[in-house]
Amino acid sequence: MFDFFLIFCAVFISISSQYHPLSQEYIAWINRNQTNWKAGRNFNVSEWSKVKNMASGAWKNPTTIPPFNRQYSILKANIPEHFDARRKWPKCQSINHIWDQSHCGSCWAVSAASTMSDRICIHSNQTLQYYISPEDLLSCCWECGKGCLGGGIPRAWWYWETYGIVIYSCRPYSLPPCEHHFNKFESRPHCDDLRLNTPICLRKCYNSSLDYQSSLTYGGRVQQFTSEEEIQFEIMQNGPVEGAIDIFDDFFNYKSGVYIRTSDKYIGGHAIEILGWGIENKIEYWLCSNSWNSDWGDGGYFRILRGHNHCGIEDQVFASLPRI
Ligand SMILES: *[C@@H]1O[C@H](CO)[C@@H](O)[C@H](O)[C@H]1NC(C)=O
Ligand SMILES: *[C@@H]1O[C@H](CO)[C@@H](O)[C@H](O)[C@H]1NC(C)=O
Ligand SMILES: *[C@@H]1O[C@H](CO)[C@@H](O)[C@H](O)[C@H]1NC(C)=O
Ligand SMILES: *[C@@H]1O[C@H](CO)[C@@H](O)[C@H](O)[C@H]1NC(C)=O
Repeated sequence: MFDFFLIFCAVFISISSQYHPLSQEYIAWINRNQTNWKAGRNFNVSEWSKVKNMASGAWKNPTTIPPFNRQYSILKANIPEHFDARRKWPKCQSINHIWDQSHCGSCWAVSAASTMSDRICIHSNQTLQYYISPEDLLSCCWECGKGCLGGGIPRAWWYWETYGIVIYSCRPYSLPPCEHHFNKFESRPHCDDLRLNTPICLRKCYNSSLDYQSSLTYGGRVQQFTSEEEIQFEIMQNGPVEGAIDIFDDFFNYKSGVYIRTSDKYIGGHAIEILGWGIENKIEYWLCSNSWNSDWGDGGYFRILRGHNHCGIEDQVFASLPRI
């Protein structure tokens, strides 16, 4: 059921621009070329080779998971124009948390764990506030793919159902956030100085006073949501979902507005979390969180064109319910 083909990273089909993807000239070109979104500086030009890896961690699932137990009778009228999971479940701190995956292609694990954390909180009537460990998933799910070199989304959820994933305090994320951004305080170590290896799978907690087995959480059967309405309905009913987008080289410079791509330079597949939707200047969008720290994009978030499978956003949407 889960077969993958690897998205080859950095296959350049150069049409759109003669500029370096992170350059000021390219940013200015994007801002001249369209008015849907604003580009700005998120990364230092010198970090390009590392930054590309961060955007190539999601492998596509070529087949669709057959639906089960869907009792949706989706009436479009019941779907509001705007929805934001942060407002619907204001007590769930995890929905507001923006992760930093570091220079590792772990988006598939980080956004899965983030979505799982949100769903545990939501399905506990906003009482359970713990985070799921992206590291446990990243390092131990060999069936998922290749750790920091990428993995497939549905397999991450299947792993949660089958083996369980421990909570964050058992296995915190060991790859530190690093300074690929333009952070004037230079508070983080430079990414160049960090190793990029996938952490080792240890079925024990880093904190020896915690027990691995009793730190495990589990999910139910993974579902795929394949239409705009189905995705909306699922988010309203059960919380944010994990999805993926095809990254083109202009996306790195996103700052605000509704992203509609201006570039033909494909970089890779990237997993993200979808937490709502809306409409602005007559353009319908999805509200998503990224995992490139909160100084990327719009406070760590971005919005992207909805309803046209833009950059494949409606193609790879998965989630399950937590078992609590
Ligand atoms: C944006 O760039 C594309 C490709 O170079 C071009 O076809 C289009 O006309 C440009 N749009 C504007 C508003 O400059
Ligand atoms: C970009 O990185 C280079 C090399 O690390 C550094 O010398 C330069 O100061 C950085 N630029 C900015 C604006 O931070
Ligand atoms: C959910 O929590 C609220 C208080 O935050 C409480 O009033 C309500 O009864 C709870 N619902 C259930 C089903 O436990
Ligand atoms: C380890 O876990 C215990 C029990 O939850 C906690 O009190 C302690 O602060 C933790 N130690 C570290 C270094 O996180």
